[in-house]
Amino acid sequence: MVVDILRQEHRNIEKLLLVLERELDVFARGERPDYEVVHAVIAYFQVYPDVYHHPLEDRVFEKLKVRDSAAAAKIGDLAADHRRGAERLRRVAHAVESVLADQEFLRQTVNDIIRDFIEQERRHMAMEERVFLPAAISALKSADWDEIASRLADQSDPLFSEAVEERFEIVRKYILQLEQEAEAERSTHR
Ligand SMILES: [Fe+2]
Repeated sequence: MVVDILRQEHRNIEKLLLVLERELDVFARGERPDYEVVHAVIAYFQVYPDVYHHPLEDRVFEKLKVRDSAAAAKIGDLAADHRRGAERLRRVAHAVESVLADQEFLRQTVNDIIRDFIEQERRHMAMEERVFLPAAISALKSADWDEIASRLADQSDPLFSEAVEERFEIVRKYILQLEQEAEAERSTHR
């Protein structure tokens, strides 16, 4: 169940990466991307992974270290990977602000920074799907999963409550809706 949640979250993250990638393609063609969409995706990534997704992965990883330290060692420092992702996101936000402020920032640099973020996020999630989650599935005992899941069910913990996840779902839908509108708008002007 916890693994299903993490996999679903990866699919949700990928949907938003696709949105960002589409807007980046617009930018790369020399056109103006929809900055409302771009900002919304950045804002989502500034909050969601650290508040919701990574803490859950960290708990699974802590259990993996106990149950199979060799497998955990192969994965390395998951928390550091997540921090590097947050750092890349800060570069993305800064690059976008620079473009909007008409600062001297090479378009190619902006393009590279955002592509790098998208690519590294995908690579990181692929590693988690291929290495981390399978290792956790084979090493963790059902009591471990129960313990992790019990926190999910604990409504008194605001971070892991379903209500919070529902709110994120609303935000995701809103962003996807904005993106559809941006795409529709662009196709009428082509
Ligand atoms: Fe993840």
